[in-house]
Amino acid sequence: MTEHTIVAIDGPGGSGKSTVARAVARRLGYTYIDTGAMYRSVACWALRAGIDLNDMHRMEQLAREAHVTFLNGGVLLNGEDVTAEIREPHVSEAASKVAAYPGVRRAMREEQRRIGASGPAVMEGRDIGTVVFPDARVKVFLDASAEARAQRRAVELGAPVEQVARDLAGRDTRDRTRAEAPLMQAPDAEYVDTSGLTPEQVEEAVLKIVRGRTSN
Ligand code: DC
Repeated sequence: MTEHTIVAIDGPGGSGKSTVARAVARRLGYTYIDTGAMYRSVACWALRAGIDLNDMHRMEQLAREAHVTFLNGGVLLNGEDVTAEIREPHVSEAASKVAAYPGVRRAMREEQRRIGASGPAVMEGRDIGTVVFPDARVKVFLDASAEARAQRRAVELGAPVEQVARDLAGRDTRDRTRAEAPLMQAPDAEYVDTSGLTPEQVEEAVLKIVRGRTSN
């Protein structure tokens, strides 16, 4: 059986995961998978359809039926472009809620494993190195100070930094304290603090880890 190389990148929001994962995937010629976009797409669908986010079973059903694909840097939900919509603050909040449901996570995990089995990939999220691919060859845990993370997100969203910091802290707490697959560093993941680094420096640091873990 061929074991494809999986580069698992986990960390909290605003730590720089998406930027570095996309760049590293391009450099290596691997598929890039943003698993947060998968949870966001499920939440987006529920909000659009007016489905109660507290209805765990309906959320699991949506997660099983959602067809999320990545195309030219964008995200498609059941064939429709949702790239911008899934970044809206109310979708971020809803995504963090639905991501706590074990049934939703099970559906996402199965899909992520299926993608990983089909070829080498750089996959970023919260539980890739701990739960989805515990045997991944390369594991990186990206982190940054709360201030640096809020500052980055505020620039991305064009929103006041104080408000972004509050929202981010709330979601972080939920992601870190949920019972199912909470955000945590895998014991064998390399820790990288991106607070004072440029995206290029983070990319080089991650590529160095990849080279170190894939040689021999
Ligand atoms: O990385 P992001 O901000 O796009 O993630 C959106 C939400 O989904 C966030 O609250 C964390 C959750 N998530 C998760 O629980 N597990 C993952 N593998 C990826 C994201």
